[in-house]
Amino acid sequence: MSTEIESVLIENRVFQPFQNLVEGAAISGMQAYEALCDEARKSPDAFWDRLARENLVWQKPYTKVLDESEAPFYRWFGDGQLNVSANCLDKHLNTPTANKTALIFESDDGKVMTVTYKALHARVCEFANGLKALGHKTGERAIIYMPMSIEAVVAMQACARLGIIHSVVFGGFSSKSLQERAVDVGATLVITADEQVRGGKAIPLKAAVDEALAMGGCEAVRHVVVYKRTGGAVQWQEGRDVWMHDASANQPAECEPVALDAEHPLFILYTSGSTGKPKGVQHAAAGFLLWALLTVKWTFDSKDSDVFWCTADVGWVTGHTYITYGPLAAGLTQVVFEGIPTYPNVGRFWEMIQRHKVTVFYTAPTAIRSLTKAAESAPEYHPREYDLGSLRIIGSVGEPINPEAWMWYYTNVGRERCPVLDTWWQTETGGHMITPLPGATPLKPGSCTLPLPGIEAAVVDESGAEVGRGKGGFLAIKRPWPGMIRTIWNDPERFKKSYFPPELKGYYLAGDGAQRDTDGYFWIMGRIDDVINVSGHRLGTMEVESALVAHETVAEAAVVSRPDATTGEAIVAFVVLKQTLPAGEDADRIAKMLRDWVAKEIGPIAKPKDIRFGENLPKTRSGKIMRRLLRVVAKGETVTQDVSTLENPAILDQLSQAH
Ligand code: WTA
Repeated sequence: MSTEIESVLIENRVFQPFQNLVEGAAISGMQAYEALCDEARKSPDAFWDRLARENLVWQKPYTKVLDESEAPFYRWFGDGQLNVSANCLDKHLNTPTANKTALIFESDDGKVMTVTYKALHARVCEFANGLKALGHKTGERAIIYMPMSIEAVVAMQACARLGIIHSVVFGGFSSKSLQERAVDVGATLVITADEQVRGGKAIPLKAAVDEALAMGGCEAVRHVVVYKRTGGAVQWQEGRDVWMHDASANQPAECEPVALDAEHPLFILYTSGSTGKPKGVQHAAAGFLLWALLTVKWTFDSKDSDVFWCTADVGWVTGHTYITYGPLAAGLTQVVFEGIPTYPNVGRFWEMIQRHKVTVFYTAPTAIRSLTKAAESAPEYHPREYDLGSLRIIGSVGEPINPEAWMWYYTNVGRERCPVLDTWWQTETGGHMITPLPGATPLKPGSCTLPLPGIEAAVVDESGAEVGRGKGGFLAIKRPWPGMIRTIWNDPERFKKSYFPPELKGYYLAGDGAQRDTDGYFWIMGRIDDVINVSGHRLGTMEVESALVAHETVAEAAVVSRPDATTGEAIVAFVVLKQTLPAGEDADRIAKMLRDWVAKEIGPIAKPKDIRFGENLPKTRSGKIMRRLLRVVAKGETVTQDVSTLENPAILDQLSQAH
């Protein structure tokens, strides 16, 4: 990574905000930005109090803004009550927004369906009533394993309405991953679809749920509610399985939103950490909602006339904050897309921006990099071939965007008239943390620029002391904010240890390395723990290692990452088999088998790009695997470091052969 970081840091182009976006912006000009930052610094409680009153509809007002008595288990607006779904839907009913389009859904094969706020409210209420009729109640946990659809948004909103805590599992995860999450949350309800359709192919979802539940441990699941997407064949367990349309049928289009304590968990979303077991990141209703709404207003400077399109899946936090909750709370019209950017051709995104007159487009660097390549080989689908004149803001999320990709995006998609917003945040932060503001912040390609008002970001050393400008360190947040993670489900100790280590003075430790330049701009340098970011998807090295060693042929495995021109990082696995060292076709066959195995254990996104076999792994005399050497080998470079502490230096040559 080091050469890449250096090239990022010599980046010295600066792009001033466009005048048309400065005028009338929610945060207009750097002075307005700084004034808000000052307001937050001088009296954080008064700042958040003002925003929570101005932006949220409370069923019972709170009296205390922040309770720090059990820090780091912070409580926000603790004695207040509200309902998230009422804040996203009911709030708009007696306003002109009621008849506005809430969702423009485009299916994989290009069919378009729209739903107004009023109609969405009715569908959410009907489904919530259906869930109630099935006996599901506040506080239960539901696994949602669905394709991108209006129904997925309905399912999440219906849960929020009843106070059923949802845990969405990305449709690309395997039945094993699904089962582990269902067990950990103690799910009583699973909401899924018969199949999902992506790139012209139907992929079963219900069958994966059946498989997961058959693995055991999920006996608490009373119902599996199934959205009929394709009508493909499914197995049916009478009494347990219910069609989503049957659950909603004949239900009233009104359902009283449950008044929930501000700190009632809204959702649990699993994400990878440094150990083998993914963490169930728990978010609280009021704080998350406030941060989702505020960041939509601030970062995207949202306007009533916007057509907002976030291309993420609801299986990731980006889909939670910037599809299901934030844009609806802001009353925006948004595009929801079922398919993939390369089907039926690589112009799909640009064609959809043109068709739906998208004004704010928010996607991942991996998509931009792969579409850059695709546009070169298929010039007829180059963004220049489409009318993208509706765009006013383009954003990036999930991984570092290198200056080359940034410039391509800025020039070819934004046509040098839309700011590129490089938004840094995490599942744990609930919403944007460090990001440019379209009406204020001068941009530097490759930098996520400056923290939002109320966010006290810093780069610190191991003792929590801030390091000087231009020096690398740990990215930390010095004060709590409403959208922050509340705990790790079932594991408060791990929450404390992972995010608030005692040596860091109570700061939130993000797990990323960063530097600030002389203007105070932040430059993210990637993870400092054993997390790999492949195409914006977080995966733990230990998770992949555990999956590999679970295979009967594998004795030992070590996983590292390597920079990749398209996916940002790629997974390289070093494997010691129980049998003798394989060669030639035999090795290729076993490598393929192990890749498929990892796909089955975790999901296709976790498949190692390279598998290298060896008779052993490079270890110190005390038996510790030397990952730093493996990272060098993974990149195809020669090891020049001192290997004198290695028990078995010859192993490095053997491990250099890719499969
Ligand atoms: C990385 C996704 C650089 C980072 C919203 C972080 C980024 C992890 C950026 C969180 C960015 C996210 N620049 N790196 N703009 N945004 N990351 O939880 O390493 O899936 O810690 O949340 O992605 O990934 P997560």
